[in-house]
Amino acid sequence: MASEHKGTILRGEGKETFMKDYAVLIVLLVLAANGFGCRSEDKSIPSERIVPLTKHWEKAVPLQTPPRGLKTLSAKECGSCHVEIYQEWKASFHAKAWFDPQFQVEWAKDDSLWVCINCHTPLVNQQPYLILGKQGGDYFRPVKKKNPDFDPDLRDEGITCAVCHVRDGVVLGPYGNQKDAPHAVRKATPQELTHELCLTCHNVTDVLNPTLVCTFQTGEEWKNGPWARAGETCVTCHMPLIERALYPKGPVRVTRKHIWIGSGIPKTRQEKSPVDDYIPGLDMRIITSKKRYQPGEQAYLSVFLTNRRAGHYLPTGDPEYFYTVELAFVDAQNTVLQDTTIWIGQKWQWWPVAKKLKDNRLKPLETRIFPLAFAIPAQTTALRFRAVVRTHRMTREIAEQAGLLEIYPLSIVSLKQEVPLVE
Ligand code: HEC
Ligand code: HEC
Ligand code: HEC
Ligand code: HEC
Ligand code: HEC
Repeated sequence: MASEHKGTILRGEGKETFMKDYAVLIVLLVLAANGFGCRSEDKSIPSERIVPLTKHWEKAVPLQTPPRGLKTLSAKECGSCHVEIYQEWKASFHAKAWFDPQFQVEWAKDDSLWVCINCHTPLVNQQPYLILGKQGGDYFRPVKKKNPDFDPDLRDEGITCAVCHVRDGVVLGPYGNQKDAPHAVRKATPQELTHELCLTCHNVTDVLNPTLVCTFQTGEEWKNGPWARAGETCVTCHMPLIERALYPKGPVRVTRKHIWIGSGIPKTRQEKSPVDDYIPGLDMRIITSKKRYQPGEQAYLSVFLTNRRAGHYLPTGDPEYFYTVELAFVDAQNTVLQDTTIWIGQKWQWWPVAKKLKDNRLKPLETRIFPLAFAIPAQTTALRFRAVVRTHRMTREIAEQAGLLEIYPLSIVSLKQEVPLVE
């Protein structure tokens, strides 16, 4: 803990390594070369004062105990009765928030920074160390203590059932129906199982140091947009209603799906691409100036891209996500005669200070129009126009640097349309 250790950083599973300031700088320089939601760099630490944790995302969710009637907090135990919800959750990104290879790679690069896991494995039970404060206010020099209640199996479950559903030895639910439940139950408050819960992780904007910023504004984008006014929330869109029994042989009732499909980009190569039940947020329409063209004519057309179904910008959240819109005129031999690719997303610089350079994402219900003209060659016998929208998790370069190329798909085709122009 000692205050004389200048430039202490965290490594691996929280082992402390003491390094000289310049070494820290090198590590952080490497790190700054890669973009991410939370990124970092050098800082001067004038004082050794221990700065307490004040922001909600700086703190883990307090230690929880199994609710009366249950033996553990494990999703597996919940899943012995709530079979379908368990299977849905298991397939979700939330269940993979710890094991995700991208998380593991990025986290290692960020020196296993403790704040990261407050959103990825949030319960104190899931964390090997208790964090008591920051030396000199520096996120990379936490004051920490071994956690006697650390449960590695529970950590592996990432954003597990108990993260959202267990507080003070009680299961929080939408009804608070104690009569039928074999475990303690209470009705959730309006802060607990609503969009407010989602926002604790999906709506954090802060500067940790000059090159480490957190930039998740999905909540703000939603609050300021048309869907919040219409009464649609993170929960109504991402946890759609479904009628079924909540446990084997139980009565059929209205429940909510626990898949939280978003980008629809699978997390494994084995999964279908895009994942089952994926609903594209974007809509595409192609309007041509004529129904069919003659060879030698000029074709004019417009592609309309609308953020039709998402309650927030598209893409949202992770600043590495982006879309490409590939527009091409293709002849009978499948030869591309003219094409163009439009890029939609955010561009960031991470060094020497984190700064957003560009942002051309689509706001909720916004339509963007791409007009095109094409001189059809006189000898053309067949011509069609092809438009393909792809959602990307990250660029090929970033995946290559991180060693993730072979791990999972980098992108999916989210929309595809073809229009005949000459037949
Ligand atoms: C032994 C079987 C069993 C286990 C294990 C179990 N539950 Fe339940 N749970 C039930 C039954 C039965 C109900 C009552 C359903 C009803 O009201 O129709 C219930 C109700 C619920 C409700 C709705 C509460 C309400 O009325 O608002 C939630 C949420 C819930 N369980 C979550 C969990 C979680 C999370 C776990 C694991 C920490 C868990 N359950 C473990 C059987 C179980
Ligand atoms: C404890 C923090 C936390 C809470 C609470 C939380 N999320 Fe998440 N969510 C995450 C993290 C972290 C990921 C990404 C995990 C990964 O990709 O490895 C994620 C992923 C997602 C995704 C998939 C994103 C994609 O790229 O496709 C959706 C959709 C989502 N969450 C919606 C919700 C909704 C809706 C709620 C509220 C009911 C919610 N989340 C609550 C942290 C949280
Ligand atoms: C990211 C937060 C989150 C996680 C993780 C989560 N749930 Fe839920 N759960 C919710 C929300 C939100 C509701 C819906 C509340 C409402 O309808 O008002 C809900 C509802 C329920 C219900 C009540 C019936 C229903 O479907 O509406 C049960 C039972 C339940 N969850 C069990 C589980 C189990 C079991 C797990 C783990 C396998 C789990 N949940 C994981 C947020 C979560
Ligand atoms: C009106 C419905 C709607 C609402 C409200 C909504 N979403 Fe979404 N969300 C979507 C759709 C549709 C997508 C899929 C976009 C796509 O095609 O990739 C999506 C995608 C996402 C993604 C994946 C990233 C991406 O760009 O695809 C995350 C994370 C997410 N939503 C979180 C949230 C959170 C958190 C809230 C609440 C603040 C919320 N959503 C509110 C419909 C909604
Ligand atoms: C305030 C909560 C929060 C903190 C702190 C946080 N994350 Fe996340 N993380 C999220 C959410 C929410 C998502 C899902 C974002 C989305 O898809 O919109 C996510 C997604 C990710 C992903 C997966 C992106 C993808 O393509 O699915 C990685 C990797 C990741 N985080 C790494 C980190 C690292 C490394 C840190 C620490 C430097 C960190 N996170 C800190 C909330 C957080």
